[in-house]
Amino acid sequence: MKSPLTEQPYWKMLEKHAEEIKSTDLRSLFAADENRGKKMMLEAEGIYLDYAKHRITEKTLELLFELAKACGLEEKRAAMFSGEKINVTENRAVLHTALRAPVGEHIFVDGHDVVPDVHQVLGKMGEFARKIRQGEWKGHTGKPIKNIVNIGIGGSDLGPVMAYEALKYYSARNLHFRFVSNVDGSDFAEAVQDLQADETLFIISSKTFTTLETMANATTARKWTLSQLKDEKSIARHFVAVSTNEKAVTQFGIDPQNMFGFWDWVGGRYSMSSAIGLSTMLAIGPDHYHDMLKGFHAMDTHFKNAPLNKNIPVIMGLLGLWYNNFFDAQTQAVFPYDKYLHRFPAYLQQLTMESNGKHVTLDGKPTDYQTGPVYWGEPGTNGQHSFYQLIHQGTKLIPVDFIGFRESLNHLPPHQDYLIANMIAQGEALAFGKTADEVKAEGVAAPLVPHKVFEGNRPSSTFFLDKVSPENLGKLVAMYEHCVFVQGAVWDINPFDQMGVELGKVLAQNIIPELQDHGKALKHDSSTNALISFYRGTH
Ligand code: F6P
Repeated sequence: MKSPLTEQPYWKMLEKHAEEIKSTDLRSLFAADENRGKKMMLEAEGIYLDYAKHRITEKTLELLFELAKACGLEEKRAAMFSGEKINVTENRAVLHTALRAPVGEHIFVDGHDVVPDVHQVLGKMGEFARKIRQGEWKGHTGKPIKNIVNIGIGGSDLGPVMAYEALKYYSARNLHFRFVSNVDGSDFAEAVQDLQADETLFIISSKTFTTLETMANATTARKWTLSQLKDEKSIARHFVAVSTNEKAVTQFGIDPQNMFGFWDWVGGRYSMSSAIGLSTMLAIGPDHYHDMLKGFHAMDTHFKNAPLNKNIPVIMGLLGLWYNNFFDAQTQAVFPYDKYLHRFPAYLQQLTMESNGKHVTLDGKPTDYQTGPVYWGEPGTNGQHSFYQLIHQGTKLIPVDFIGFRESLNHLPPHQDYLIANMIAQGEALAFGKTADEVKAEGVAAPLVPHKVFEGNRPSSTFFLDKVSPENLGKLVAMYEHCVFVQGAVWDINPFDQMGVELGKVLAQNIIPELQDHGKALKHDSSTNALISFYRGTH
C-alpha cells in the first residue's frame, strides 16, 4: 500500500514532470530563456542565491511549492515557531529559534515565556566571557586562563568547533582553543600535551551530561588537572559545564554557579546558538556572538515570513527533495569556497543526517520513499583536485551547494579572484559540460574524445555572501536548519529525535566488560565473538 505522500496528487504530478525534465538538459533550458539566470535567483538577508543551474522549470517549482503546502509545511512551520510539541516521539517543543529571539519577544512552552530565560543565560555567559577575556578570572594558582578546552561530542562539539574555525579571524588570539570529542584517549592526550593545568579551563559541554565519551574525557581532564594542581578546590576554577542536567553536573563536582543551562526544547544538533556556544563566545567575544545570533534571527524571520517562492530555506529544501525523490540522488555535496568554513560540511552532516535519517513517518509507518540524503563536502578549491572528477564525469548525480564570499578576510590579491573564479567555473562546468563536437573542435584525437567529454546537466546552487562574519555564519546555519525542517515536513518524519544512535551505545556498554574481563563468556554472533577475542589476544 502506498503512503499518503506518494499518493499525493502533487507527488504524482512531480513524478510525471520529472520524466519531462529528464528528456531535456540545462543547455536547452538556458537556451530557451536568456534571462533564466536573472529569474532563478533570490536575494534576501544579504544572501544571493543562484538556483538557475538546477534541472527545473517554473512548473517544477510550482509543483514543489504546492506539494509542500499540501503536506502542511506552513502549518508545521507555525507550530514549530509557536512552541508546540512537534517533537512528538519525545513530547518536546522544538525552539532553537527562541535561542536567538530578541528581548521583548514572547515564546511560550507550557505557558512559560522562555525568552527571558534565554537572555538570562546569555547575560551570564557574557559576564563570564568578559572575565576570562580580560584575565579577571584567575586559575587556582592566580594565573589568568590562557587555554580553553571544550569537551563534548556531536552537537556539543561540532557546532563549537565549526564556529571557532569559521570565526577564528574574529577571535582573541591570546586565548588558545582546543576541542576534545572522541573517546579515543589520544584526542585528549594531544589536546593537552603542551598545556599547563593552572592556565587551562575545561568547558564540559553535554546536554544530558551522561554521554559516555564526554564523561570519560571529563573524568580524565579532572584527573589531569588534579595531577598537576593537587587540590580538589582547583576544579571550581578550571571546570565549567554547559548542560540541561544540573544534578549530574553537581555530582561530577562542578559548582552549579559555574554551569550554563539550556533546555530540553533545544536539540543537540540545534544547540550551537545556546550556551553550547560558550567557547564561541569566549573566542569572539559577546558583541560578535550577539551579531551571530542576529544573523540566526534574521534567517529565522525570513523563513517564518517570506512567501514560499521567495523563501531561501524552502527553495533549498525542496530542490534537495526534488533530486532525492525524483532523480534517485543519494548524496548532497556542500563546498564552501572559504577556508574558514572547512568544518562546515562536518557540522552539516550531523544537522542533516541525524535529523532526516529516518525510516518511518510521524505515526510510525515505514516510508515508501527516500528520506535524508548523505551530506558531505570539503572546502574549495581542495576538493577540485580530489573527488570533483566523479561529480563531473562519474555515473552518479550529485547536487552541489557552492558557498562563496565576495571578500576575503585576508586581503592577498590575487587569491580571492582565483578562488571565486574556480567556484563559479565549477558550477558552469557541471551545468554545461563539454560536448564531443566541442572536444573534437579542439583537435583532440578521436580515441580520446569520449574521455574528454563532460556530459554536463549536473545541478548546483550557489550562495554568495559579502564575507565570512558572525552574522553571516548565523544566517547560513539557520538556513540549513530550516532546509532540514522543510524536507522533514514533506517527508512526514520527525527531524528532532535520534533513536538510531541508541542501539550501538547499548551494545558497546555490553562489550566494555567483555574487553576488560577476559574470562567473561561471549554470547554474541560468531563474527562479533571473534573480534572481541582478537582484541583480548585470545583468538
Ligand atoms: O548520540 C547522539 C547524541 O545524542 C547527539 O544527538 C548529541 O548531539 C550528542 O549525542 C551529544 O549529546 P550530549 O550533548 O547529551 O552529550
